[in-house]
Amino acid sequence: MANTNLGKAKAAKNDEFYTQYSDIQNEINAYIDYNPDVFRDKTILLPCDDPEWSNFTKFFINNFERYGIKKLISTSYAYNSKKVDFDYQPTLFETIDPRFKIETSMAKGKIFTLTKDENKDGKIDEKDLKWDYLEGDGDFRSDEIKKLRDEADIIITNPPFSLFREFVAWIFEGKKSFAIIGNMNAVSYKEIFTFIKANKMWMGNGFNQGNAYFGLPESSKKNYSSGVLLENGLVKFRNCSWYTNIEHGKRHQKLKLMSEIDNIKFSKHQEIKNKGYLHYCNYDAIDVPYIDAIPSDYKGVMGVPRSFFEKYNPEQFEIIGTDTKEQSEELGIKPIGDVWIEKYKNSGGTGHITSNMRNLALYDFDGTPKTPYARILIKHK
Ligand SMILES: C[S@@+](CC[C@H](N)C(=O)[O-])C[C@H]1O[C@@H](n2cnc3c(N)ncnc32)[C@H](O)[C@@H]1O
Repeated sequence: MANTNLGKAKAAKNDEFYTQYSDIQNEINAYIDYNPDVFRDKTILLPCDDPEWSNFTKFFINNFERYGIKKLISTSYAYNSKKVDFDYQPTLFETIDPRFKIETSMAKGKIFTLTKDENKDGKIDEKDLKWDYLEGDGDFRSDEIKKLRDEADIIITNPPFSLFREFVAWIFEGKKSFAIIGNMNAVSYKEIFTFIKANKMWMGNGFNQGNAYFGLPESSKKNYSSGVLLENGLVKFRNCSWYTNIEHGKRHQKLKLMSEIDNIKFSKHQEIKNKGYLHYCNYDAIDVPYIDAIPSDYKGVMGVPRSFFEKYNPEQFEIIGTDTKEQSEELGIKPIGDVWIEKYKNSGGTGHITSNMRNLALYDFDGTPKTPYARILIKHK
């Protein structure tokens, strides 16, 4: 299934997925629309890349002059360190260079930099790129790449899925601006959530409905079934998002919402229309199963789906917490209790739930016990 791809990628430590040019363009345009000078006189580092053919590198080379970038640095991770099951293929530009040695090429990362019109042809483009082998393999955690991080103002990449948390910690350690791709479920990691709640990090402009399509190395295409691997050779991931601390317009758009009464009268959702909202039985909040059904005038706490983060405007809402195991006790969500469990089992429930768990729980309008899926608790400001 497409939605489990990121999980699989993580388990197998397969991090070879490549971002499309149009997705980078969509995201960066949102930052530029908000502040045309966002990259002016800035050093941008693109780590965990493959500069020879990465769309991140291409995109920022193509826009280097227009954005007024001071310096672009792009680094790659060595083939030998990737532990992948496909053969190594050095690119032509490297093999024709006198510095080329196959052992070095496989063991070391590479660095590409762009700063000025080196060849004096009147424009700054890919012909002005300078490259070299790194001392090490290009691991973002190495001192060599940390030094580049410290030199940079902004870090932009699609980092290895398996190291997302570590990568975010690495950025915050360097106190940098950033825009990176990750799974929306990462919001439930305590440290990521803490950054979001404190408005130190937020979702970017994002992918269309969280659906992202990534390129794959030729040889790993055989690992995907048709339906997941699309005809154009891209693989589909659901629940993808950009995480950033760069301002963009969507973050300041207010959600247009109806009052509680109007939702009950006019909602397009059957669960709400003519019925209203369910209240959790172990926490003082109502359950709102759809973002567009958030009542505009409800004063208390509301549990909403995770996709809320993509619409979160800190001027409109306050984030209280998530219903994850790590947070539920702290938030005061009570254990589900024996009565609910008994009713759940009697109604045919088969989920692995025990009475001491602190999942948000409720009874449907007909009395059936239910646990909503992955909620964020929010309040109007
Ligand atoms: C999801 S891919 C994205 C590649 C590229 N940034 C793009 O978006 O097209 C992540 C890349 O990070 C590399 N990588 C894995 N572990 C790494 C590490 N510890 N340090 C640096 N790069 C790493 C992988 O080999 C892979 O090429």
